[in-house]
Amino acid sequence: PKTLRVALLGAGNVGAQVARILLDDAESLAARTGARLELVGIAVRTIDAPREVELPRELFTTDASALVRDADVVIELMGGLEPARTLILEAIEHGASVITGNKALLAVDGPSLYEKADAAGVQLSYEAAVAGAIPILRPIRDSLAGDKITRVMGIVNGTTNFILDAMDTTGAEFPDALAEATRLGYAEADPTADIEGHDAAAKGAILASLSFHTRFALEDVHCQGITAVTADDIAAAKDAGFVIKLLAIAEKLETTGATGVGTTGVSVRVHPTLIPREHPLAAVHGAFNAVFIEAESAGELMFYGRGAGGTPTASAILGDVVSAARRMVLGGPGRTETTTGVLPVLGIEAVTTQY
Ligand code: HSE
Repeated sequence: PKTLRVALLGAGNVGAQVARILLDDAESLAARTGARLELVGIAVRTIDAPREVELPRELFTTDASALVRDADVVIELMGGLEPARTLILEAIEHGASVITGNKALLAVDGPSLYEKADAAGVQLSYEAAVAGAIPILRPIRDSLAGDKITRVMGIVNGTTNFILDAMDTTGAEFPDALAEATRLGYAEADPTADIEGHDAAAKGAILASLSFHTRFALEDVHCQGITAVTADDIAAAKDAGFVIKLLAIAEKLETTGATGVGTTGVSVRVHPTLIPREHPLAAVHGAFNAVFIEAESAGELMFYGRGAGGTPTASAILGDVVSAARRMVLGGPGRTETTTGVLPVLGIEAVTTQY
């Protein structure tokens, strides 16, 4: 079969697992894809850094740019804005299919990257950027393409869900629950992006963009984290039959006027939210993620699973790799069909964000 050259940028938790699966499952991936996925190199900052998975040393390089120019498929798992942005742009210009899990970059630069990929006729996929292993972006984009989504509510940050769940079950105060999350390895050394809601807001921007066929960036998302939530708040919520969850919410705003019900825009926000204890999202415990969708015809849907971690996130990356490779086998890089839908599809004339 045809061979596709795969470049991997980054060998952290997720990158190392992606490399391991590409190497260990090469045969079954080839059978499923119709092409051999040859891992030609792994770009890293430091070749001899300690890693979770033992990988062939000869694959490592510090010249990411040269690796990108030599690849049909580029997997970006470096995180952060630069050099990830420049390397993705190089890959797009070079005509490679790009797969990334970089929610921070997409939340800031997604709209321009999608446009550039679309103009170049290459595929830019990012299923891993929201809710890790949970297949959520493709269902929104493809399976629900014939429906009208009215609201998306996501528990899309595992660290904060773990903290709020621990406070709910043990009565702990926020600093103690955060310390426990850190001890167990859920929270980053610097957990600011988690507890201030920025990580959830980045994912909310991506979910909203796909659900409402328009483009939201991080700056469009109203964001409040969980640092001010106290054990008393949680106890009071409990007494009233509620649980407090940090939700990323994107919903259509409707007004009723003389001419009937009209859509005035889309609200995208992240904040601690009171959820009735019988709601399916209330049953999401620990560091798990879930996304609850309401659509006009489908009704209510919920997607649940692991939102972080090397192997779960690698699953989403590999799904995008196989999907991109299948398209390339079938007839060269396909045009991306991500977030550039036209507003009139949903009858939204002017999309604004309102809180
Ligand atoms: N820090 C994130 C979380 C990792 O806790 O969910 C996945 O994006």
